[in-house]
Amino acid sequence: MERLIVALDVNTLDDARKIVEELDELVDFYKVGFQLFIREGKDAVKFLKEQGKKVFLDLKFHDIPNTIGNAVRACMELGVDMLTLHSLGGFEMMEVAQKSVWEAQENKPLLLGVTILTSLDEAFLHDVVGVNDRTLEEEVLHLARLVKSAGLDGVVASPLEVKKIKETCGEDFVVVTPGIRPKGYDTHDQERVRTPEEAILAGADYLVVGRPILYAEDRRGMAERIIREMEEARAKLRGTF
Ligand code: C5P
Repeated sequence: MERLIVALDVNTLDDARKIVEELDELVDFYKVGFQLFIREGKDAVKFLKEQGKKVFLDLKFHDIPNTIGNAVRACMELGVDMLTLHSLGGFEMMEVAQKSVWEAQENKPLLLGVTILTSLDEAFLHDVVGVNDRTLEEEVLHLARLVKSAGLDGVVASPLEVKKIKETCGEDFVVVTPGIRPKGYDTHDQERVRTPEEAILAGADYLVVGRPILYAEDRRGMAERIIREMEEARAKLRGTF
């Protein structure tokens, strides 16, 4: 299943290998974040590519445009398929990153903007960013528009924001959603969660799932359950279910 991205939030390449072997043909797309990348670096990406998997490198780039342009080129050399930039890094940073992709001949990854992390609230917006005339939701949509105008492919967003983002930025604008919990499942520290079905029906293109699969006693069983729910929701969307 191409639209399920499993977050490899583990410490070692050995742990990652076990999970990828266990999920085998069920999952084609994996997210590598700080936890694994800082310890194992590009070996983690190389391993996944050797297995024929797609890689979402979630390092949320935020630096001066020149540095980020170079970082994006480095990601393309590794064969990364999707990566994230902080939209608060500004229009020029995102535009330079996107230009690096447009200039490349091959291995063009999807570039996604991060709007406002769900761990932040309106007080952060007012006190830290200095935005006083927009609510948190308005700011998320404002930043999503900025991401789109810089030419990026889409954003990472809470499942609760998907509908409005699609309305604002168009159906083709890719939305990747974490915060997914199958029905009746422990929410861990995620408060703004939705089921796989709800996220797909809201219009999400890709779902990122970590702990519900990583911590499951039967990881394959859990992945199958989530994939089934996603496929049924997609069939409903197409009106054929
Ligand atoms: O909660 P779970 O283990 O499923 O999280 C999967 C991934 O989603 C994590 O790697 C985390 O970085 C990412 N994420 C998140 N909540 C957000 C944004 C991203 O959990 N609001």
